[in-house]
Amino acid sequence: MSRSNRFIKACRKEPVDCTPVWMMRQAGRYLPEYREIRAKHSFLEMCKTPELAAEITIQPVRRFEIDAAIIFADILLPFDPMGIKLEFAEGEGPIIRNPVRTMTDVRNLKQINPAAQLDYVMKAIRLALEKLNGFVPLIGFSGAPFTLACYLIEGGSSRSYQQAKTMMFKEPQTWHALMEQLTAIIVGYLNAQIDAGVQVVQLFDSWVGALGREDYKEFVLPHQKNLIAGIEKTVPLIHFANNANHLLDMVTEAGGDVIGIDWRCNLGSAWKEIGYDKGIQGNLDPASLFGTREFIRKRVKEILEHTGNRNGHIMNLGHGILPQTPIENAEEFINTTHALSKRT
Ligand code: CP3
Repeated sequence: MSRSNRFIKACRKEPVDCTPVWMMRQAGRYLPEYREIRAKHSFLEMCKTPELAAEITIQPVRRFEIDAAIIFADILLPFDPMGIKLEFAEGEGPIIRNPVRTMTDVRNLKQINPAAQLDYVMKAIRLALEKLNGFVPLIGFSGAPFTLACYLIEGGSSRSYQQAKTMMFKEPQTWHALMEQLTAIIVGYLNAQIDAGVQVVQLFDSWVGALGREDYKEFVLPHQKNLIAGIEKTVPLIHFANNANHLLDMVTEAGGDVIGIDWRCNLGSAWKEIGYDKGIQGNLDPASLFGTREFIRKRVKEILEHTGNRNGHIMNLGHGILPQTPIENAEEFINTTHALSKRT
């Protein structure tokens, strides 16, 4: 079996020759070839130039035996056509100067036409697909409504999510209006990526772990269900909720063919909880890649044991790869996964 179809087969819970593996945020600063391009361009320039974005998408595929590429873009790109000014400040991450705090702010957000206004993403997808030429599948992605809503309300990263929770608990109608609008935008954005040719899509709900169970159920779950129901069923969907192991049953209920598991929990218990009718992705602690080769091997072996050799496991990190990660350790993770999971 070639690298070209192992990943898709695992997403569909079909038998594979060995466990497929890719890494969240695999196109990024830990790669010298990425840093070389980054030295000449801003991050947003890189996202908005299809030739550069397609090249960066392919970089980890050239270097490693990974089983999938993920389009180089960012979850915050839809903000610009919505009328939200987004900046990436050096060392500080994303900053929004005009955060969304009131019903008037929500009403002033523009509905977007993703195929037209984010056409640079669609062009990058088509170019990356040409370059990949079927060698490995290409993943498209979007942030989930909760995570995007938090960025819009907080104006950047946050520790306590105080502003977002204030809106949620004090003005629930404003919160729900914002979530509905984001849901419609994300459905359009992911369907446009599918039309452009991506073979799998992943939802990143990076911040949803900030919520307790009752709040997820009331303020997120209905929107997340509508979102997933609206996405074309022609490609598998991976639903990743970070730091959300206390929400796994509801994340699963919201939908997805594969559930992404963060590094904080045991993959075996998580799979049992979500049910073996779903695929599972994860979940090596990205910080494990700062350990010795032996340590990485040991942890990979343990995760593979937790799957009980069932079909439908995609190996990944339990969150994005860290910028200082030694490349040879990323390689060790990928090669060990293949070597230790060979089916006989
Ligand atoms: O996975 C990939 O390789 C594809 C590219 C990708 C990026 N961002 C590129 C990027 C993906 C899938 C993302 C998703 C993303 N973006 C998430 C969800 C994933 C997660 O980790 O939970 C989030 C929360 C963001 C928002 C974002 N973008 C932040 C907070 C930052 C700054 C912090 C940081 O990591 O630097 C970014 C910038 C960003 N997005 C970079 C890259 C490669 C770094 C830009 C640079 O080179 O300076």
